[in-house]
Amino acid sequence: KRIYVINGPNLNRLGLREPDVYGHETLADLEKFIQMKGKLHSCEVHCFQSNSEGQIIDWIHEAGEKNASMIINPGAYTHYSYAIRDAIASVSVPVMEVHISNVHARESFRHHSVTAAVAKGQIVGLGFKGYELALLALLEGETE
Ligand code: DQA
Repeated sequence: KRIYVINGPNLNRLGLREPDVYGHETLADLEKFIQMKGKLHSCEVHCFQSNSEGQIIDWIHEAGEKNASMIINPGAYTHYSYAIRDAIASVSVPVMEVHISNVHARESFRHHSVTAAVAKGQIVGLGFKGYELALLALLEGETE
């Protein structure tokens, strides 16, 4: 089982960026955490991060071609990128959307996700744990 973990814009600033909202742990900590969870469930986890919409779209296409399920946190693109939404809709592999913060408790522009409707599910507000739960959801999907 192969899983792509794709983090979008500004998530390379985890740990430095608004620590009251996103915590003190870094992107490297997050990637180490999810790699470790992957190993525990004997799956291959590949981590990616980009601040560019086009790069994220290319990785979504690649995941589709390599038959990798995806965990994606599109950052602010979540709220307005129809291009990322269409990229997810264009592949047949399952995608779980994750947000570290509880977007519903924040500014109203964060309440809507244009990408969630084409995802298998969405997990918000649980910090890094959300990525682990998304991984479990994708692994369970295997036996469906
Ligand atoms: C985020 C929530 C988004 O609204 C924000 O733009 C981010 C991070 C989260 O993980 O909580 O960059 O996706």
